Amino acid sequence: MTDLLLLPGDGIGPEVTEQVRRVASRLANELKIEERPFGGASFDKNGTPLPDETLAEAKAAKAVLMGAVGGPKWADAPRHLRPEAGLLNLRAGMEVFANLRPALCFGPLADASTLRREVVEGLDIMIVRELTGGVYFGQPRGVETLPDGSKRGIDTQVYTTAEIERVSRVAFELARGRRNKVTSAEKSNVMETGLLWREVVTALHAREYPDVTLEHMLADNCAMQLVKNPRQFDVIVTDNLFGDILSDEAAMLTGSLGMLPSAAIGAPGKPGLYEPIHGSAPDIAGQGVANPLAAILSFEMALRWSLGRADLADKLFAAVARALEAGARTRDIGGTLSTVQMADAVIEAL
Ligand code: NAD
Ligand code: IPM
Ligand code: MN
Repeated sequence: MTDLLLLPGDGIGPEVTEQVRRVASRLANELKIEERPFGGASFDKNGTPLPDETLAEAKAAKAVLMGAVGGPKWADAPRHLRPEAGLLNLRAGMEVFANLRPALCFGPLADASTLRREVVEGLDIMIVRELTGGVYFGQPRGVETLPDGSKRGIDTQVYTTAEIERVSRVAFELARGRRNKVTSAEKSNVMETGLLWREVVTALHAREYPDVTLEHMLADNCAMQLVKNPRQFDVIVTDNLFGDILSDEAAMLTGSLGMLPSAAIGAPGKPGLYEPIHGSAPDIAGQGVANPLAAILSFEMALRWSLGRADLADKLFAAVARALEAGARTRDIGGTLSTVQMADAVIEAL
């Protein structure tokens, strides 16, 4: 059985997943690692971003680690064959409905953020993003031509009680092991799904998690509060689209988008999907300067959540912290190290 299926993808994806492979061979050489092309790389080779066999292998592995997909080369491919569609199909196919995106500011990086040190120092937020529903998957969607020849684009936001409940449960459970607070972000002031979201979270809280502090916040205010006073947050639970946006915003509180890992989990016992939250970064791809820490920390989450090796996860997390304390920095966090050199620093700290 494959322990870790690597899907490097496109752009900086292969550059950062290669560092995961190097770290893994140092830390856990016994892991059985396989690799498949994915996204644009798979489209070029197989005519589709996610071949059926790759999805089957992903579901049969213990964990999957994806680099990043997409890029200008595939921007004009039909929507269902675009690299990003492969990623959405992978998430849906693996049924990983809860995406954990931890925004944690490592002490030595408090000055790497564009915000002041005193605002971000000690920051530790867990964003729980709903990942297999909402406007990303709702029907109808498409672009149609109207009788007058003009066009109309349609996306649909849909959520069921069950979808809201299962992702909220993950948030409440996580909060109990942290600072015991959940902020639920939606736009119940304008959206029907927002109204249902608030109703379902409120009911679940009253029924099963009255010991956890629950706060409701409109998503636009949440975006503002994240830069005003981010340390007010512990766990934030939100829908697929708001979670996407709020987590990129939160990444900058930690110093760089290149710092934020993620774990997408589903039913207990099913494999998790681990991915840095950043994209394929076409502007720096091929230069060997991407920050590999988001990918390496995604591997840390895989060790913890899917591979049953919290001991190794702790070791890896400590090694990343030590490397940063020793001054290791890629360009995005104010240094000059290459992708490979940053991974070297982590391996050395191990
Ligand atoms: P992006 O995340 O690729 O890049 C945004 C900015 O952050 C760029 O300036 C980039 O250089 C920088 N950046 C990102 N990761 C970095 C890292 N590890 N180290 C240093 N700097 C880093 O977002 P984008 O430019 O809007 O999107 C580019 C492509 O990536 C698009 O095709 C998009 O669909 C895709 N994308 C994929 C994923 C994914 O695979 N999970 C996520 C986001 C975007
Ligand atoms: C992310 C990305 C993806 C998303 C895209 C590439 C489909 O932005 O993982 O954050 O929107 O979920
Ligand atoms: Mn995103």
